[in-house]
Amino acid sequence: MTQTLFVAGATGFIGTHFVAHALRAGYHLTATTRSQERADVLRAQGIEVIVGDLLTPGEWQHAAARADCVVHIAQPLTFGGKVTRQRAEDYRRERLKMDLNLLTTLMGSAGQRIVYVSGTSYYGDLGPDLHDESATPKPKGWGPYIVEALAQVRAFRERGLNVVEAFPGQIYGAGSWYGEMMAALLKGTRLVKLGTRDKAGSFMYVEDAGRAILHLAEHGATGERYFLVDDEPSTLAELARLSLAEYGLPLKRIRLPFFVLEWLLGPINAEGFAYENRLSNARLRATGFVPQYPTLAQGVPAAVAEMKKLGG
Ligand SMILES: NC(=O)c1ccc[n+]([C@@H]2O[C@H](COP(=O)([O-])OP(=O)(O)OC[C@H]3O[C@@H](n4cnc5c(N)ncnc54)[C@H](OP(=O)(O)O)[C@@H]3O)[C@@H](O)[C@H]2O)c1
Repeated sequence: MTQTLFVAGATGFIGTHFVAHALRAGYHLTATTRSQERADVLRAQGIEVIVGDLLTPGEWQHAAARADCVVHIAQPLTFGGKVTRQRAEDYRRERLKMDLNLLTTLMGSAGQRIVYVSGTSYYGDLGPDLHDESATPKPKGWGPYIVEALAQVRAFRERGLNVVEAFPGQIYGAGSWYGEMMAALLKGTRLVKLGTRDKAGSFMYVEDAGRAILHLAEHGATGERYFLVDDEPSTLAELARLSLAEYGLPLKRIRLPFFVLEWLLGPINAEGFAYENRLSNARLRATGFVPQYPTLAQGVPAAVAEMKKLGG
């Protein structure tokens, strides 16, 4: 029998890729979006759509409760312009409420699998060593604003929900923060350098992230956490350098003190430049997941080709 997947966040940056993989794999998909226009786009792909808002109880709850598996990739908006602490605080509050409404809805559905997607900013500043999911989190950037949401998920797990937790690293691809960064770099903006050396981070191409979430829906262990990251950590400068090279352009840098970056980008995004986070995908790979683009060198040409196709 065809398995039914309920997706919250199907129209988002990662969700779009998740949905494409799930449809190819033969799942029956039900999704929710707040927009009639985006609902039409989903319907054209053969997805059953309920227009609704996770912040408000509604018809979407019946669809979520009936599904064999629920994939939660929805979040309030994060990227775009300067992120103030107030904006991050609004995100924290909204995210908690969206999650509470969804997880409460699922409490009666025994045996249903739930893939809950958050982010590695929760693990934050782990220093120069490679870490796995058992590391003690030191949330940075957006991280402090998802701590409560993750505690809430843990409480629901303890009350019996079968949750698999996915923690994507910095996900790049045509769109989202990477699209914004590339548009700025192509206009001639210089990439900021803080201090004497670039901080390492953990990346994954959005295609792999979408595929990994589907893989976890099928093979992830409930109660377990998984990093969605490449085989090797790298740096934002290397991502930018490889990306500009695809356009035949050199990377230009500018050294700025932290307070100037904070003034330009807001404290949340500025902090994202300032911490080190080298994460291992060993646990994800141990489930049988094989990334198609395991390093930036393999993923960036695909990301840039997609951007060029979309006119970027
Ligand atoms: N992008 C990254 O680099 C990255 C990195 C690490 C972790 N993550 C995590 O991955 C997940 C997805 O991120 P993303 O970048 O793909 O997000 P995104 O592009 O901002 O998409 C957000 C999605 O959430 C939906 N949504 C927002 N508010 C909603 C509400 N009140 N009710 C129902 N749906 C709502 C939106 O749907 P409509 O607007 O159509 O309603 C949209 O589909 C998040 O948990 C994020 O923290 C992302």
